[in-house]
Amino acid sequence: MDQGLELHTRSIEQPEAFWGEAAKLIDWQRNAEQVLNSSAAPLYRWFSGGALNTCYNAVDRHVEAGRGEQIAIEYVSPVTGHNRSINYLSLQKQVARLAGLLKSLGVEKGDRVVIYMPMVPETAFAMLACARIGAIHSVVFGGFAANELATRINDAKPKVVLSASCGIEPSGVVAYKPLLDDALAQASHKVDNCVILARPQYQCELTDGRDLDWYSAVADAPEAECEVIAATDPLYILYTSGTTGTPKGVVRDNGGHAVALAWSMSHIYNIEAGDVFWAASDVGWVVGHSYIVYGPLLVGATTLLYEGKPVGTPDAGAFWQTIAKYKVKSFFTAPTAIRAIKREDPDGELIKPYDLSCLGQVFLAGERCDPDTLEWCQSKLDKPVIDHWWQTETGWPVAANLMGVAPLPVKPGSPARAVPGYQVEVLDAMGEQVGANETGNVVIKLPLPPGTLPTLWQNDQRYQDSYLSMYDGYYLTGDAGYIDEDGYLYIMSRIDDIINVAGHRLSTGRFEEVLCQHDSVAEAAVIGVSDKLKGQLPLGLVVLKAGARADHDVLYKELLTLVRSEIGPVAAFKLVSAVPKLPKTRSGKILRATMRKIADNQDYKMPATIEDPQTLDIVQNTLTRMGYSKALTQAVS
Ligand code: COA
Ligand code: AMP
Repeated sequence: MDQGLELHTRSIEQPEAFWGEAAKLIDWQRNAEQVLNSSAAPLYRWFSGGALNTCYNAVDRHVEAGRGEQIAIEYVSPVTGHNRSINYLSLQKQVARLAGLLKSLGVEKGDRVVIYMPMVPETAFAMLACARIGAIHSVVFGGFAANELATRINDAKPKVVLSASCGIEPSGVVAYKPLLDDALAQASHKVDNCVILARPQYQCELTDGRDLDWYSAVADAPEAECEVIAATDPLYILYTSGTTGTPKGVVRDNGGHAVALAWSMSHIYNIEAGDVFWAASDVGWVVGHSYIVYGPLLVGATTLLYEGKPVGTPDAGAFWQTIAKYKVKSFFTAPTAIRAIKREDPDGELIKPYDLSCLGQVFLAGERCDPDTLEWCQSKLDKPVIDHWWQTETGWPVAANLMGVAPLPVKPGSPARAVPGYQVEVLDAMGEQVGANETGNVVIKLPLPPGTLPTLWQNDQRYQDSYLSMYDGYYLTGDAGYIDEDGYLYIMSRIDDIINVAGHRLSTGRFEEVLCQHDSVAEAAVIGVSDKLKGQLPLGLVVLKAGARADHDVLYKELLTLVRSEIGPVAAFKLVSAVPKLPKTRSGKILRATMRKIADNQDYKMPATIEDPQTLDIVQNTLTRMGYSKALTQAVS
């Protein structure tokens, strides 16, 4: 048996011994009484009775161990032209002061703090400061609009919001403060204070009695010590798209999270203390939480925090230049980023000027990685390129090649085998395991390993309904795929109405809700259509109310603007058209999966339960006009 398989078998057969051993990677304030607590199954808890401080493990212990002068965070910001190196000692001071400020604002253990910030080091300080005092942070991605921020504020009910005057995108300065003010005005929950980081690119007004200037408030704050935190206490809430418009508040605990991330850094990412690791994502996403902030810092590595894009800041060589300059050993990005680079530099000319001998391997995740993209990256860099699969809910990889243990041969199109801790199976609709290479629902046998979601924020019922109810004893990933004869997993698509746009997970249900807010729209269906750059793009079909506006071009512009202002620019909503009627089953269910197949030129069967077969022809013709489905069967009425 190979070493990876051996580890996997032990993790499944003896989970308590396996994770009890892994827990030694972390410094505990109190050892766990039980490694795995199954008393409330199917709600499992890891390291019950244990106590630790995640911030202490990520920061202070490295200073105590003599690593104070080592760089903890390399901030690289091609969009501002400013870079900063922050060592562990300085990180400790800044985090302790910010934590002190939060305490002086009345934030206590268990209180929530929303963080709505760009990719600056202060965002990482903010997360760690919350962890230090046991406050639960909830980072909201900067590309979301005010309304999405308001929804999250209403659910998390924070005492304090930490934000900045602006973010900087290649297209220009994105003023965050007006978005925050708008969100706070919309939210029914009222926050006590906002602490605003003033960036020179955009000056903003502070609201009297509520807002504080970050720099002066932190300068005056006392340093706070690390509190004693139960392993099972929440560290953060991260909202992610569900199938309805209401996002799900994925909860992460302290103990399981620290153990799993520390274990993954060496075993999966091949990173030890002192190495440089770079995850080119955003702190607003789970990749940013796990592998820009917590994972690398927990093991005493240097993390690179990048405020820029793969292309255009300044060119498609930006990643390679940064890797060479900072001696990055493992690099993590999304396939979309590689596709963007490939489009601008197909021959890899912009790789050639840089010495990439430091780089051991590249990891890709966030969306399905098409074999072309993987092979291009592998051949141009001449390095192992590792596709790996996970979700916001799991917090760390479910399937991956263990690069720190025993790398397996790469099969393009597959994120390799299940990682230790995860028993991944493929089931049919009846709950039976399917054979090798047969597609079905990808599930994980309970209990999930440490570091995965114990529940949804204050909503055990939604957690059970969404993930545990379809198959008894299994967690439903929402992905469809198959396992081949060598145990390699292939993730092919979602089984629900979630789409993946440039590695960003979005709910079509939310798009539909927003489109229906328009006065002229009676009904809407949104599907994800294949896109060469972003993987998928949202495409909306709307049925107009009788007597609705006749000028469709004006209407379409209004709809695009509406989605941008309600969901945010990250929605990348640019495709919309009117149809007289949507294809539905006789029971009224919109046939989104069939429409998706038509748009992507895949074979489809006319659903037996369709209410009006002509509606599919109309959709087909509309999609063809929009540049999607190729076959034109019938003229649009
Ligand atoms: N704050 C404010 N706005 C943001 C934002 C943020 N943090 N992040 C993105 N946006 C805006 C962008 O400016 C853009 O707005 P625009 O419509 O005014 O141009 C919009 O949201 C879409 O952004 P993006 O998804 O970045 O698309 P793009 O067309 O600007 O760039 C890529 C294309 C491929 C370069 C980009 O999608 C990319 O880098 N993808 C990698 C994905 C990734 O890292 N995913 C994380 C999961 S691992
Ligand atoms: P998110 O929660 O935003 O990280 O999105 C998770 C979803 O993205 C997964 O459920 C998959 O649908 C998709 N995904 C992430 N990584 C991969 C991958 N390596 N291969 C295929 N799909 C992926």
